[in-house]
Amino acid sequence: MNIWIIGASHGMGAELAKQLAGQGATLALSARSAEALNDLNQQLGGKHIVLPFDVADSVAAKNAAETLQQQWTQLDSVIFMAALYTPMKFGALDLIETQKIITVNIGGAFNVVEAALPWLKQQGRGQLALCASVAGYNGLPFSQPYAATKAAMLNMAESLYVEMAGTGIDVRVICPGFVRTRLTEKNDFPMPFAMPPEAAVARIIKGLQGKSYEVHFPKRLSVFLKVLRILPFFVRSRILKRLV
Ligand SMILES: NC(=O)c1ccc[n+]([C@@H]2O[C@H](COP(=O)([O-])OP(=O)(O)OC[C@H]3O[C@@H](n4cnc5c(N)ncnc54)[C@H](OP(=O)(O)O)[C@@H]3O)[C@@H](O)[C@H]2O)c1
Repeated sequence: MNIWIIGASHGMGAELAKQLAGQGATLALSARSAEALNDLNQQLGGKHIVLPFDVADSVAAKNAAETLQQQWTQLDSVIFMAALYTPMKFGALDLIETQKIITVNIGGAFNVVEAALPWLKQQGRGQLALCASVAGYNGLPFSQPYAATKAAMLNMAESLYVEMAGTGIDVRVICPGFVRTRLTEKNDFPMPFAMPPEAAVARIIKGLQGKSYEVHFPKRLSVFLKVLRILPFFVRSRILKRLV
């Protein structure tokens, strides 16, 4: 299996690399930090491809896909894990950081999808997995702009799934709850049902190897938030207001 992980330098992306390499996969490791990717590759025996680039740069994403195509005869899976997160509150948003989060989290996903699709379409097979979040299900308080990018990712992945029907391309979306990584270290509130990255990634791999379009966990949190989403707005907003 040839798997391209974008956002492989830290957190769940790095853990995905470790667990997938342990299952015998050949990997291409992407993120911005070349040094962290090289260290990871060394830990994994040095036999994988290190392909650093910034997902915000559409040309760099296209070049990365083309470079990979010169080295691999097939691409079995692309897993997009890259994201930025900074906790902020309305009225005190850092607008430069807000733009960065939007550009990387959702703009980066568009850039990578567009870069990988020609190859996947040419093959008529392969998986395209996009990491959203349970934070995208509802407009939770104090979650912007990150949550908006994850809601956009859920919408984008659904369109992509429908458009790719019949092409052989297997589109998936991943919605983790709280996972203890560098990303959530910034949170100063209790994170319900927070998981270590090892357990979260085991769920992701099992989900991506299964049949369901969406991989979501832990169910105690994800199902609660899914039910919240389908409640009438006047009920949902009352529940959300209690979280403020
Ligand atoms: N942790 C959670 O509780 C949680 C919950 C739900 C969903 N998620 C999602 O899970 C995914 C992984 O998150 P994580 O918790 O593992 O975070 P993390 O440890 O901060 O890892 C994020 C990864 O994204 C890469 N990245 C960031 N900006 C990039 C850019 N411009 N270009 C290329 N790569 C970039 C980072 O590498 P560089 O800095 O080297 O570029 C890093 O490898 C994200 O999509 C996140 O939104 C996380």
